[in-house]
Amino acid sequence: MIYENALELLGGTPVLRVRHVLPDPRSRLYVKMEGFNPSGSVKDRAAFHMVEEAERRGELRPGATIVESTSGNLGKALALIGAVKGYRVILVVDPKTTPSALSYAVSLGAEIDVVREPNSAGSYQEARFDRVRELLAAIPGSYRPDQCVNPDNPGAHALHTAREIIDDFPQLDALVVAVGTGGHISGTSSTLRRHFPRLHVRAVDSFGSSALGFPFAPYRVRGIGNSWVPGNLHTEFLDSLHLVDDVEALSMCRVMASEEGLLLGESGGAVLFAALAYATAHPTETVLAIAPDRGDNYLAESYDDDWLRAEGVAPEELWRTRAEALRHARAPGNPPAPITHAPAHAPAPAPTVWSLS
Ligand SMILES: Cc1ncc(COP(=O)(O)O)c(C=O)c1O
Repeated sequence: MIYENALELLGGTPVLRVRHVLPDPRSRLYVKMEGFNPSGSVKDRAAFHMVEEAERRGELRPGATIVESTSGNLGKALALIGAVKGYRVILVVDPKTTPSALSYAVSLGAEIDVVREPNSAGSYQEARFDRVRELLAAIPGSYRPDQCVNPDNPGAHALHTAREIIDDFPQLDALVVAVGTGGHISGTSSTLRRHFPRLHVRAVDSFGSSALGFPFAPYRVRGIGNSWVPGNLHTEFLDSLHLVDDVEALSMCRVMASEEGLLLGESGGAVLFAALAYATAHPTETVLAIAPDRGDNYLAESYDDDWLRAEGVAPEELWRTRAEALRHARAPGNPPAPITHAPAHAPAPAPTVWSLS
C-alpha cells in the first residue's frame, strides 16, 4: 500500500481477538489498537479532525501557529500535523510530561513551553491553560484546538472510529472505553448506540479521577482521569463506569504483554482490565475494548521495575499471569456500577455530578 503523506496513515486501526488471557471458547473479547495511528495514539484522529475543521471554517490559516496545552499524546499528534501541513506548533507542557513524548514532538519540529509551577490552587493543568492564553494573546492569528471542549474531538470518533467498528462488527454487545477529555468515548458511543441499539457502553476511569464527579485523589496511570468534569464527556451515552486502580492497570499491561504479545499503554491496561471484568461477567457477549496508545511510550517508565520502585510502586505487587488477571477481573477492587443521570428537569448541579447507584 502506497501513501502520499504521513497523515494518510491515520485510522484503519487493527482489531485483535484476546484469546489467551480469556480462554473460554464462548468469549469474544476484542481490542482495537489505536496505537497503530501514525504518531502512536487515538489522539491523531481528534487532532487531525480539529485542525481540518478549523481550516475549513477559516480559523486556522496557512503557516499559522497552533498552541495547545497537552500532557503527551495530543502534543505528538499536533507535532506530526504541523510537520506535514507546515504549521508552527507550540506545546505547553509541565514537568510531568514524559521525556519520550517531548523528544518525539521536538524531533518533528514542535516548540515546547514548560510551565514549571502549578497555579495558586496547586493545578498544573490550570497553570498550562493560563500560559496558553498568554501565548494566544501574544501571537497574531494563533489557533488553540482546545480538546476538552472542541466538539470536533468527539466528532472525529463519531464519524471515523465508529464507522470502522461498524465495518468490523456485524454485532456488538459492549464497548469498553477510557475517559480523558471524553472525546473518543462520547464520539464512538453516540454513533454506535444508534447502530447497535442494545449496546452497553462502559466507561473506564482511574480510581481517584474527578472526570465523573468523584472527589480527586492522586493516581499514576497517564492518559485517563481528570481533576474536573470535561466538557466533551457526554454521560448520556454511557451505561456504567469502572474505576480501575494503578495496580490493576499496570498489572494488566504486564499480563497482556506476556500472554498476548501486546504492549499496551497504561490506560490500555486499565481498559483491558475493565473489559476482562465485563467479559468474565457476560461470557457470551461480543465485547470491544479500545486501547488508546502503545506501551512503547512507557518502556523506560511503568514497564521498568527500577522506575516503578523509584516511584514508590513495588513491582512484586503487580500480577503477571492470566490466572491472576482472571481472578482479579472476577472480583475487581472497585466493582463497576451503573451511571445514573440527574432527572432532566432538575437544575444542573455545578460541577455536574454523576453518582454511582
Ligand atoms: C494514553 C491515553 N489514554 C486515554 C486518553 C483519553 O482519550 P480522550 O481524551 O479521547 O478521552 C488519552 C488522551 O489523550 C490518552 O493519551
